[in-house]
Amino acid sequence: MSHNTIEINQRMNRFDSHESVWLFGYGSLIFKADFPFIERRPAAIQGWSRRFWQGSHDHRGTESAPGRVVTLVPEEGATCHGMAYLVTPEEFAHLDHREKNGYLRLATDIAFEDGSMHEGIVYIATMDNAAYLGPASELDIARQIATARGPSGPNSEYLLRLAQALRELGRHDQHVHAIEAHMEKLLTENRN
Ligand code: SIN
Repeated sequence: MSHNTIEINQRMNRFDSHESVWLFGYGSLIFKADFPFIERRPAAIQGWSRRFWQGSHDHRGTESAPGRVVTLVPEEGATCHGMAYLVTPEEFAHLDHREKNGYLRLATDIAFEDGSMHEGIVYIATMDNAAYLGPASELDIARQIATARGPSGPNSEYLLRLAQALRELGRHDQHVHAIEAHMEKLLTENRN
């Protein structure tokens, strides 16, 4: 699959006739909501784990030195916590552009803290996309993130803002917070 998923995502018209749609964000969509929304609420989806396994050539890295950003990988019994936004279907034109480096829209059940559940959309970069990097040790991931930078800024900023946003949601993510700890050590070592 090519880097650019805009065309494929535009064919996903399942919610086009709806007045509003829930969008589940688990990465930059938690800490950077650059789109209008009707409402936002902490939420979770089941059966997925957040991983820094997706390459970024367009936001947090370049073609020759890709950064690493999060995607979701299937894992039985796992819960991924994030933020859900109620948006109008027109917002997906902007979101498809923002998430074009390998992410596909997927329909999913979204669970809210009051026990309610709604079907909505999540953007997932699956392992068959051209920008996918896959697993690496959390230390190696931190090393890659420490040096990468792209048009949206340093890759480290993405990591640190995501880790902080998860703390503000009251959620510990073992993978994200372990990479953050490695990053802080690397930053201290570089200062000394
Ligand atoms: C998301 O935040 O839900 C998708 C991944 C990203 O844009 O960082």
